[in-house]
Amino acid sequence: MDATAPASPADAADRFARPAAARPFGVYVHFPYCAHRCPYCDFAVTTAPVPGGGRYARAVLAELSLRAAPFDAFRLVSIYLGGGTPSRWAVEEIAEVLSAIRARFGAAALAEVTIEANPESCDRTRLAAWRAAGVNRVSIGVQSFDPGVLAQLGRRHDPGTAARAVRTAAEELGNASVKAAQAIKAACPSDYSLTPTGRLAAMEQRLQAVRLAIEESKQ
Ligand SMILES: C[S@@+](CC[C@H](N)C(=O)[O-])C[C@H]1O[C@@H](n2cnc3c(N)ncnc32)[C@H](O)[C@@H]1O
Ligand code: SF4
Repeated sequence: MDATAPASPADAADRFARPAAARPFGVYVHFPYCAHRCPYCDFAVTTAPVPGGGRYARAVLAELSLRAAPFDAFRLVSIYLGGGTPSRWAVEEIAEVLSAIRARFGAAALAEVTIEANPESCDRTRLAAWRAAGVNRVSIGVQSFDPGVLAQLGRRHDPGTAARAVRTAAEELGNASVKAAQAIKAACPSDYSLTPTGRLAAMEQRLQAVRLAIEESKQ
């Protein structure tokens, strides 16, 4: 048996189409829909209903075919589904979009496929479906394990929901990162808005601290 033989026809096509030294690149897919708008958020989001009938996935696929060509000689190493709240996106549509991206660019070098999730939409059923669709990392918007800070930030989850989401994500995917809001003005006495219990849960996973940039008009 030839040890260098490609595992599948797709791998073979990928090997001949892309030089090994091709520059790596990642694909970012934005899902702007949120159940509600957090008062501090300055990302491109909307609280309009998620379009039904797979319309958003079709729009993403149309954009993919328009923009893909310049990247054909590059190596796809990561896909990031960000938002907004992509954890609210129908899992069949996520699977369709991820599959189209892999088919377009090849998946031989694809190491990380991340989805951003709000704790309240990060349950075991969704996590298992994301994993089946090829997701291998979830970034959870915990912000804080302090109920007072969560209320001040206008978040919809409580500390228990956040802790469960982190634990379940670690069990289902083995790769969860926790986003915590740092330096939330006077509301937060410590630098990280995690209580000791929260810190414990976060330490088991990768902790990503984001410094909140709160505009004058949102304070
Ligand atoms: C845009 S949200 C998308 C994912 C998810 N909806 C969530 O809330 O985590 C990603 C992260 O951006 C951060 N973020 C939102 N508004 C911010 C701001 N004004 N300054 C810094 N970080 C912000 C939050 O910490 C949030 O976890
Ligand atoms: S859920 Fe996330 S993306 Fe949506 S408004 Fe809140 S911080 Fe922004």
